[in-house]
Amino acid sequence: MTATILPTPADLSITPRDRRFGREAAAPRLWHGGRVEATAIYNALSTTFPAGEAFFVESVRAFRDGAPPKLAEEIKAFTTQEAIHSREHDAFNKRAARSGYDLSSLEAQVEKRLAVSRSRPPVVSLAATMALEHFTAILAHQLLANRRHLAGADSETADLWRWHAVEEIEHKGVAYDTWLHATRHWTRWKRWKVKAKVMLYVTRNFVVDRTSGSLELMRQDGITGIQAWTRLLWYLWIRPGMFRKIAGAWLKFFLPGFHPWNEDDRHLLGRYEATASGAQSQRKVRRAA
Ligand SMILES: [Fe+2]
Ligand SMILES: [Fe+2]
Repeated sequence: MTATILPTPADLSITPRDRRFGREAAAPRLWHGGRVEATAIYNALSTTFPAGEAFFVESVRAFRDGAPPKLAEEIKAFTTQEAIHSREHDAFNKRAARSGYDLSSLEAQVEKRLAVSRSRPPVVSLAATMALEHFTAILAHQLLANRRHLAGADSETADLWRWHAVEEIEHKGVAYDTWLHATRHWTRWKRWKVKAKVMLYVTRNFVVDRTSGSLELMRQDGITGIQAWTRLLWYLWIRPGMFRKIAGAWLKFFLPGFHPWNEDDRHLLGRYEATASGAQSQRKVRRAA
């Protein structure tokens, strides 16, 4: 296999915005419009970020030696963005814990999954990161494209999620391009087979773990059994239906010729920059370390 053409836009800028959220006033425990299931799924997702994004960074940086200069720069900016995301979600998770949630079983599950990944060869960790970064990017796209997902949420907490989504879109090609670089001597078939297998594996774990994590947090709010399942599945799959809405974008990952930037969704970043929070982010931009 010869060198691959990387379709990441030449004029893409990956810009770490060093923002802090929720340090002044505490959001209510049920910060997502008082809704137990909505708060639970976002809290469950946030629980994965501090350790998960540290794992993404370590998996990508293991392959930075010999990367083309543009990709090496993007890896640096990606590292800075993910480090700040980890910090902000760690702070968010501590606030959730202070408001009475016990996140320990969710965090233990994340650590268990990461331990399995770390026991595999580094290129498999990179593949898992590349697959999960596609997942994060399509969730981010949907979150920014459809206001319904954060409707009714505490405004500063909604800002945290939008800020994170913007940066996930900006750096969505970094793990993928690192993967293309790391596997440049593989055949197309071998590359496709590994990435498809890894995507199916991480998707299964993602859906199972986030569902059980959300149910656990709903249990802590007194909602259990069939009522909990119905409310959660309705929220995830029907209305606003995040999982249903990202299904098409998820499937595209398996197409030959897939690349995260086959869909240039930077118009969503422009829309964010035009908001008050986006304007504040612009002032907090700092160059990648
Ligand atoms: Fe992130
Ligand atoms: Fe990311």
